[in-house]
Amino acid sequence: MSVTEQARPAEAKPRHAHMLIDGNWVDALSGATLVVENPGRRTPIATIPRGNADDVQLAVAAAQQAFPAWSRIPPRQRGRMLLQVAEALEARIEELARIIAEETGNAIRTQARNESTLTADIFRYFAGLGGELKGETIPLGEHVLSYTRREPLGVVGAIIPWNAPVLLGALKIAPALVAGNTLVLKAAEDAPLGVLFMARVCQEFLPPGVLNVLTGTGEEAGGPLAHHPAIRKLSFTGSTEVGKIIMHAAAERIVPVSLELGGKSPSIVYPDADQDWVVDGVIAGMRFTRQSQSCTAGSRLFLHRDIFDSFLDKLTKKTQALKLGDPLDETSDIGAIINEKQFRKVCGYVDEGLHRKDARLVFGGLPPKEGPLAQGYFAIPTVFADTSNDWRLAREEIFGPVLVAIPWRDEADAIRMANDSHYGLAAYVWTHDIGTALRTAHAIESGWVQVNQGLGQQPGHSYGGYKQSGIGREFSLEGMLDSFTQRKNVTVNLNTPRAM
Ligand code: NAI
Ligand code: MG
Repeated sequence: MSVTEQARPAEAKPRHAHMLIDGNWVDALSGATLVVENPGRRTPIATIPRGNADDVQLAVAAAQQAFPAWSRIPPRQRGRMLLQVAEALEARIEELARIIAEETGNAIRTQARNESTLTADIFRYFAGLGGELKGETIPLGEHVLSYTRREPLGVVGAIIPWNAPVLLGALKIAPALVAGNTLVLKAAEDAPLGVLFMARVCQEFLPPGVLNVLTGTGEEAGGPLAHHPAIRKLSFTGSTEVGKIIMHAAAERIVPVSLELGGKSPSIVYPDADQDWVVDGVIAGMRFTRQSQSCTAGSRLFLHRDIFDSFLDKLTKKTQALKLGDPLDETSDIGAIINEKQFRKVCGYVDEGLHRKDARLVFGGLPPKEGPLAQGYFAIPTVFADTSNDWRLAREEIFGPVLVAIPWRDEADAIRMANDSHYGLAAYVWTHDIGTALRTAHAIESGWVQVNQGLGQQPGHSYGGYKQSGIGREFSLEGMLDSFTQRKNVTVNLNTPRAM
């Protein structure tokens, strides 16, 4: 693994960012703050308001007040405002990319710039969908007019994580708003700065109170938002553990909930595919260049026994050629883990793998204790082989660059192991045989299966989880309609006698 050497500029004094409530840029009512850190350097870069239930109260009240007027704006006109947001974001992609790289530790060239670009694209995509908020007519006979309307739900409460914070924030803001809802969004405490930057751009074009963005911890700000009685819909992206808490909160008030949760996605490699090419795809699917902090990471590699060793040799060479280093350095392929807690968690899994007799370390291991990489939360891509599908490393979402390689000979066995998980988010199948590919794709219990590619989601995809990976779909036209509108039926009797 090569290391990016870079002269470190003198660290700037941390700046202070504000939250957005009712069109105003504010501090927490309590005045409390949190520190945001650059995980590549472990230096503070900003302070943010530490919002709590009182701030949630203000934000929800603002969103409630803004709702009637916003919901009555014709949908395509709402879409035009989102298009202005898209264009303004497109002009500032580079600025946003730097903020994302700095606060998340995601490398600017391989990750942050793509996230920034895709964020603008998400606004552009949903901006065009205003005209699709259509209803239908029901043929109940000549003397009846029965039709449905797609109506917004009201105030949406959304909570997002830190791994692709701006993109995931856009995926709440754009569909919720174009559908006519107003929104209170809670950013992740580790990566709120890009989200606040995006909110500033949005606020140039939106009426006050339509979009409100809070910062603070999960317990202090996220909890009160999930439990607020005026919230009519909860949309959450993050861990399965917190997803369950959100679903409980929703159950208390019978509000609809969308959950985009974790994954432990299988990548099944058949022996007939070109190995060099599949290795590139497996590296992409594993999201090694985002430190594998991705819910769709293909983190269980099921390799056919005939190619097991040769494939792992090639995987070793290609992964080790990736450059780990400062997220803001253009030559870095891989950046840093988000924070100390996640870094320790990832190291804990690696340590467990190193101590297990029935697991063979193919490459990687624990991070160096000194040198430039020791200055940040840099985890080293690591692969364990000859493992079973049953141990903790093969079952739990590590959210770090730790891949387990498991051999198979019988296709049915590979599929059984792939499905033997409480998660079901993504999957990857690698083979030249189209029949084999589709048979396997159909047998896998996952919301999204890619055959012969390891790419990220695109606007328009139906994307979401099976099993404990989540409920609902938000990425697409259908997702916007299903997750952010409710249908009303109006039935009119046309045979009405007139009063004499
Ligand atoms: P998390 O699920 O705790 O955090 C996600 C968001 O939920 C943050 O905005 C957080 O402030 C909020 N939150 C936390 N507790 C809450 C509560 N009780 N009520 C309301 N909101 C709450 O994720 P965390 O702790 O940052 O990461 C832990 C693990 O979660 C990771 O190792 C990974 O396995 C998984 N994860 C999965 C993600 C995904 O995209 N599927 C994203 C982030 C984490
Ligand atoms: Mg947590």
